[in-house]
Amino acid sequence: MIHYKTKAEIEVMRESCLLVSKSLASIAKILKPGITTLSLDKIIGDFIRDHDAVPSFLNYRGYPFNSCISVNDVVVHGFPNKNELKEGDIVSIDIGVYKNGFHGDHAYTFAIGDPGHEVAKLIRVTKESLYAGIEKAVAGNRVGDISNAIQEHTEKKYGYGVVRELVGHGLGRSMHEDPQVPNYGKRGSGGKMKEGLVLAIEPMINLGKKEVYTESDGWTVRTVDHQPSVHFEHDVCVQKNKADILSDYSIIEVAEKSNANLFTEDKSMIDAM
Ligand code: MF3
Ligand code: CO
Repeated sequence: MIHYKTKAEIEVMRESCLLVSKSLASIAKILKPGITTLSLDKIIGDFIRDHDAVPSFLNYRGYPFNSCISVNDVVVHGFPNKNELKEGDIVSIDIGVYKNGFHGDHAYTFAIGDPGHEVAKLIRVTKESLYAGIEKAVAGNRVGDISNAIQEHTEKKYGYGVVRELVGHGLGRSMHEDPQVPNYGKRGSGGKMKEGLVLAIEPMINLGKKEVYTESDGWTVRTVDHQPSVHFEHDVCVQKNKADILSDYSIIEVAEKSNANLFTEDKSMIDAM
């Protein structure tokens, strides 16, 4: 069953979605080699609670952390752990918050320093595919139009692997509402979208083959070929001519850039020595 949101509910949801963006921006500022993903998870949990919200993921179907932190060949649902991030890693951070009765749920993939040309391109193209999908999230279109746009931009155009087992979803008073939003599919297929439908659109795109497996912890999803995977997720509300993006990448990107500049300054200082 689909729950369409009123204008007032959308504004409440915007606050939840923006709190996720702010959490991601706060992490973007401090990402660097040597930091453990478990310490990031702790900071995320504190940040969310300090903003009068609850981490949606914690205890969701028994999930044991505040966030999902997925490094390199981990596609999604990675457990934060005591391993240190290192130069060249890529890390997808997925956060959910519950505030004023509604969830926000979105994700961003960061590079720690320089991941190399090929992986940097995978990150860029996956983000582009998310926006290509969002462009189709307008009233009168069908869910498959979003799915198709993502698949065309990643699999068709660049030969990347589009994960089939996990999909985007409706979002609201529950973290997972109808409809499902696959990242592959036929144009014109699926349900017709109407104003007030809020979707979490989340391409999970592999550099290599599309196949993934779940580890024995019951959560961690990895690529079968162990090549890297990228995940971006935005929360959007379907409207007449243009989707309303409730989450905000701009604040994350500003934080990411200033942090990246610090990195290169550090390095030039080392080079100068
Ligand atoms: N963004 C993911 C999703 O939409 C996060 C859920 S994972 C869990 O499914 F940790 F909450 F379980
Ligand atoms: Co999601």
